[in-house]
Amino acid sequence: MRAIRFDTYGGPEVLTLVDTAVPEPGPGEVSIDVTYAGVNFAEVMFRRGQFEPGTPHVPGLEVTGTVRALGEGVTTLRPGQRVAALTLAGGGYAEVAVARERLTVALDGELDAIPAPVAAAFPCNLPVSWAILHEVARVREGESVLVLAGAGGVGSGAAQIARHLGAGRVFGAVGSAAKLGPATRFGYDEVLTYEELERRIPELTDGQGVDVLLDSVGGPVRARALDLLAPLGRHVVYGNASQQDHTYEANLMWYTAKTVAGYNIGGLANRRPDLVHGHLVECARLLASGAVRIETTELALEDVAKAHEILERRDSTGKFVLRVS
Ligand SMILES: NC(=O)c1ccc[n+]([C@@H]2O[C@H](COP(=O)([O-])OP(=O)(O)OC[C@H]3O[C@@H](n4cnc5c(N)ncnc54)[C@H](OP(=O)(O)O)[C@@H]3O)[C@@H](O)[C@H]2O)c1
Repeated sequence: MRAIRFDTYGGPEVLTLVDTAVPEPGPGEVSIDVTYAGVNFAEVMFRRGQFEPGTPHVPGLEVTGTVRALGEGVTTLRPGQRVAALTLAGGGYAEVAVARERLTVALDGELDAIPAPVAAAFPCNLPVSWAILHEVARVREGESVLVLAGAGGVGSGAAQIARHLGAGRVFGAVGSAAKLGPATRFGYDEVLTYEELERRIPELTDGQGVDVLLDSVGGPVRARALDLLAPLGRHVVYGNASQQDHTYEANLMWYTAKTVAGYNIGGLANRRPDLVHGHLVECARLLASGAVRIETTELALEDVAKAHEILERRDSTGKFVLRVS
């Protein structure tokens, strides 16, 4: 089968189209004939060796397609069934991928309405957006939310899910003026550049700050995140795209009555796949009902390096998906 693989860590040029063996599902797993695969910033981090998946590695955290074969003990899926899945350990940039039964969602009934490129685009991003708002920040009716990297895959979904959950004002922050317009399409009340946050967030919140700050970026905004939060506000850390973290003293949470929280879908999927499966189904329903939409840009499987280059340059908005077969 055709797959994209890297044999050493490095720049986008290490992503190589190869002919490789078809993977077989193990116990509790299914193999999937992949039609589309999503592209995630996490895969850029794997490729660079920031997280080391081991080499050779076929990247790809999410796919859609049809079930090809069932591993031992699989009872809830059948061959030929249309599905979307979190592959998590990688393997998505390929004609056949393997996923755990519990991280695979059947796209039947109302979920059959989800088009294939969108079905490939949601299994990683939207459940993260859902979990950080609903489970971690526990956003309440009328609360204000600020989303960093607001035009990106997770960010664009978070803006819409925050609204769906009853948030009041929803603000986005982006890394360049060029993304202000595109980000507005995801329903923000206001989109700001990072440099404007310190001045504009107090103005926009009667001097209080936001109730929830979603931070996958780190860097200077993370270092001043508590100043941007209202009393009892929650700063949710779920990524570090800038590669600049910040250290807090725990006592500061006590003094300020503010919370720093975190989320990791891989960690949760390993310990509580049932919870992640619930988030996947919830998000698939939001897509099928039209409550949330994803803006996808399609590329051929062999052009994946282009998507990685654009993601690394910070020029992407919405989500790249790869046409596989
Ligand atoms: N914890 C989890 O379970 C989990 C799961 C999935 C994703 N994530 C994280 O969520 C974030 C969003 O993922 P995504 O796949 O949807 O990506 P994305 O948001 O579409 O792309 C990454 C964005 O990060 C921002 N960024 C800030 N500093 C950057 C830098 N130095 N280099 C590159 N980008 C930078 C850029 O937006 P601006 O230019 O607008 O800042 C860029 O567009 C990533 O950081 C990812 O690691 C976490």
